[in-house]
Amino acid sequence: MSVTTPAARATAPPPSPYDTGVPRDFDALLRQDPEIGGILLAEADRQASTLQLIAAENFTSPAVLAALGSPLANKYAEGYPGARHHGGCEQADAAERTAVRRAMALFGAEHANVQPHSGSSAVLAAYAALLRPGDTVLAMGLPYGGHLTHGAPGNFSGRWFEFAGYGVDPDSGLIDYTQVRALARARRPKAIVCGSISYPRHPDYEQFRAIADEVGAYLIADAAHPMGLIAGGAAPSPVPYADVVCATTHKVLRGPRGGMILCGVELSERIDRAVFPFTQGGAQMNTIAAKAVAFGEAATPAYAVYAHRVVAHARVLAAALEAEGFEITTGGTDTHIVVADPGPLGVDGRTARERLMAAGLVVDTCALPYGDERGIRLGTAAVTTQGMDEDDMARIAELFGAAVRDEGGTGTVLAQVRELASRNPVRPDTTDPRA
Ligand SMILES: Cc1ncc(COP(=O)(O)O)c(C=O)c1O
Repeated sequence: MSVTTPAARATAPPPSPYDTGVPRDFDALLRQDPEIGGILLAEADRQASTLQLIAAENFTSPAVLAALGSPLANKYAEGYPGARHHGGCEQADAAERTAVRRAMALFGAEHANVQPHSGSSAVLAAYAALLRPGDTVLAMGLPYGGHLTHGAPGNFSGRWFEFAGYGVDPDSGLIDYTQVRALARARRPKAIVCGSISYPRHPDYEQFRAIADEVGAYLIADAAHPMGLIAGGAAPSPVPYADVVCATTHKVLRGPRGGMILCGVELSERIDRAVFPFTQGGAQMNTIAAKAVAFGEAATPAYAVYAHRVVAHARVLAAALEAEGFEITTGGTDTHIVVADPGPLGVDGRTARERLMAAGLVVDTCALPYGDERGIRLGTAAVTTQGMDEDDMARIAELFGAAVRDEGGTGTVLAQVRELASRNPVRPDTTDPRA
């Protein structure tokens, strides 16, 4: 799909819904509100003509988008199925019950709460259920890949709790469980959080459980990133080990933007009350219906193939980037995430991101587990949904090298990125990228 200005697009007929995920009734929006319609079409153009390598992003299926734009968007439904504060909730209840049942089956959990509006809301509710303000929490330090909700000073977590941060081994980049245990013994946290925005390896949930038990702490797994891999059997599950598992339903899981919480029956009431009424009001029923659709898709054999391909692609990408001269944290990946330090190419992380963005390679930066420089964080969820293969990953690494080294002008790399993107349009049936 070519890139045109929002104004031009506003008067043009809408593109095929199969190219862009734009719904069929989009022309009604364009007629009524050309300004916003044009912005949305320009965004569709951007997504179709550049490569989405942000580790937290993906392309949802048309079915997920349809549920998001469904009449449940109009419905208020405070409370839980069978116990709502509003009338007319029969279909909202049915949608939420379906989402909960599918989430429990998909992840083998005794209880699921699908109402959190986001991953951060899920973590907030988990803390609200288990902790009191002022309690000590042990989590991965932000300089090593901890999320904002793991104790950032500007976040509720850093304001309301005492965080102690564990790190990674400076040589291997791997979590140092000896340090985690020592910190746990010294600080006696009420909860230990495992999960990260950029750690490309699997946390050892069994070790975390053992450490938590040793000091009488709750174990909270913030599995926002690996949840889709877990659903597809491509990553180990924290469900048997953690007291509470928080996650997003977007990222590799390929659902709508939102959160979820899994736990055992004994904590279920506390978790539910911590979501509503403690931290949220009315649930977003259209999003919950879309979560149900995504859980249904993630339970298919085709999705398991997808999840394993995501990891295989990340491994190829990591190795090819290393061959291009980037330093790869932990020496590779077990997940969809690759963290590449452009330092050996003589370029800092922010400059590298600017050059990559100019070449149509959309990434973000993240803290590196050593020094003050920033690395490039990238992920293979979206490009794998587009149906790209291992050769394409090797090609992406070459384009990365050329863009960061600023070889041959940005325009040349951008043209090659556009060509790669146009050969792999966003697919109509994302449950099987090869369908
Ligand atoms: C580990 C982790 N926790 C929580 C979140 C928060 O999710 P959201 O952006 O939906 O609030 C993220 C998002 O990237 C994450 O990676």
